[in-house]
Amino acid sequence: MDKVLWVTGGGSGMGAAAARHAAGQGWRVAISGRREDALAQVAATITAAGGEALTVPLDVTDPEQVRAAHDTVLQQWGRLDGLVLSAGLNNPRRSWADQNMDDFARIVDTNLVAIARVIDVSLPELRQRQGVVVVISSYAGWQVSPMAGVAYSASKTALSSVAISLNKQEGEHGVRACHLCPGDVATEFLQQRPNVPDAAAQAKMLTPEDIGRAVLFVLDSPSHVRIDELVISPVSQR
Ligand SMILES: NC(=O)c1ccc[n+]([C@@H]2O[C@H](COP(=O)([O-])OP(=O)(O)OC[C@H]3O[C@@H](n4cnc5c(N)ncnc54)[C@H](OP(=O)(O)O)[C@@H]3O)[C@@H](O)[C@H]2O)c1
Repeated sequence: MDKVLWVTGGGSGMGAAAARHAAGQGWRVAISGRREDALAQVAATITAAGGEALTVPLDVTDPEQVRAAHDTVLQQWGRLDGLVLSAGLNNPRRSWADQNMDDFARIVDTNLVAIARVIDVSLPELRQRQGVVVVISSYAGWQVSPMAGVAYSASKTALSSVAISLNKQEGEHGVRACHLCPGDVATEFLQQRPNVPDAAAQAKMLTPEDIGRAVLFVLDSPSHVRIDELVISPVSQR
């Protein structure tokens, strides 16, 4: 297979797991995030297992870096067939009483605007390749969850509109998007909670690999199959 996948948030958690799963099935995988050492570790794991990986560091909130990263992937591999958009942000201050507007804007910029930006820059290639887009949203993007944070839940519920509009408007070009909504997953993202769950609580959560497997199912579905939304939660989810 010569298909190319670009993963944002690929240096850790679900993005890294999705990259590993896809590479294991022959996708060439470009992984992006801010921490170059984290990207390099994921790439090393993929290449050690016989896969192909390219690290493309970026901050998703910087339009020029997004454009440059996109161009790097195309220069390197000449095509782009899929996106996994996993870069995300939250903050421990989650209520109207204690949030601040700078944090609010950063969360919306990372979780919503940057997702649209990466899709926008990739759209010409996705149209050519009948590309597939997996938007890593959240349980809070499926059911309004104020406890997840005002900015976080607002940014994640909007991702449903992003995926639906992409499907309705770009389906004629073969482009498919999945609004993937994980419940609690044991990743470093939990450090952004006001009360970080202990080891016993994390042991009941999903693992990044659970989501990596689901992402691969979406990526490798036949080109006439669209999986509009996937909600995946641990049985302990409340
Ligand atoms: N863990 C959960 O319980 C849970 C549940 C539902 C949904 N989610 C969502 O799942 C996604 C992945 O999170 P995760 O749980 O796998 O945690 P994670 O390991 O912390 O992944 C988040 C990733 O986003 C990247 N990132 C953050 N800001 C960025 C920026 N400005 N530019 C580029 N990359 C950026 C981080 O890399 P750098 O710091 O290196 O940039 C990191 O690799 C997020 O969108 C999150 O909202 C998480």
